[in-house]
Amino acid sequence: MQAGRSEFGTTRSESATATRADFTIEQNWDSYSESDHAIWRTLFHRQESALRGRACREFLDGLVGLGVAADGIPDFDRLNRILGAATGWRIVAVPGLVPDDIFFEHLANRRFPSTCFIRRPEQLDYLQEPDIFHDVFGHVPMLMNPVFADYMEAYGKGGLKALRLGSLHHLARLYWYTVEFGLIRTPQGLRIYGSGIVSSKGESIYALDSPRPNRIAFDLLRIMRTRYRIDDFQETYFVIDSFDQLFEATRPDFTPYYARMKDMQDIGPGEVLPEDIVLHRGR
Ligand code: PHE
Ligand code: CO
Repeated sequence: MQAGRSEFGTTRSESATATRADFTIEQNWDSYSESDHAIWRTLFHRQESALRGRACREFLDGLVGLGVAADGIPDFDRLNRILGAATGWRIVAVPGLVPDDIFFEHLANRRFPSTCFIRRPEQLDYLQEPDIFHDVFGHVPMLMNPVFADYMEAYGKGGLKALRLGSLHHLARLYWYTVEFGLIRTPQGLRIYGSGIVSSKGESIYALDSPRPNRIAFDLLRIMRTRYRIDDFQETYFVIDSFDQLFEATRPDFTPYYARMKDMQDIGPGEVLPEDIVLHRGR
């Protein structure tokens, strides 16, 4: 997930390989066991069928474009040839969550940091920290889309600025409610683009079908003021109309927004405000 947590910054170093100054490591693709690949295939096929008619076209196109990912844990070098040709992005291997400045520096240079380890069989349905299935299956298909690819780079640059301005907690919420848990409105109905949803069997059903969560139209400052839950399905999803809308809304310099939000109260994860455009009110 990353940049999910403004309280992130912890680092796990479980790899035998040396960690470089930018926190990257070698993926060591040859060291995956057959059962590691089997876990990937189980997750992949499960999500592939769950996401038909649920994930947005851009995500599904990206998944098809990447191709190689169905047979087992993908080799980053192979994925990077395809991803690089499509949008100039590249996956780099990291041991776990990396410090904020390092994370943003990677994004700002069109490098997506991904973990290498895969969850254990008893963690198929839920895992608190990101693994390679979340990072690659969840994030990389959207990086095949040119507009989203630009948004992620801009986010990285914005992250470095937010750090300098002491506003990371505000900007991290934008990542959470778009990159990780975003929904998009299409003529066929609501669809998923958020990585945290597409990589979770339970949440890919819940986010669209459950009457419990709120579904509220995208509003940049509203989102940056809204706290989120990291331990359960979301209480509120924010819905964009297009990736162009998302990119345009986030194009202005956020410095004055951060200044304005300094004296404003946070909004709770399940709160609905009178000025919200509510597509569905949770119950
Ligand atoms: N325009 C933002 C800023 O000035 C940068 C940004 C772009 C942030 C896209 C998030 C997403 O900080
Ligand atoms: Co993620």
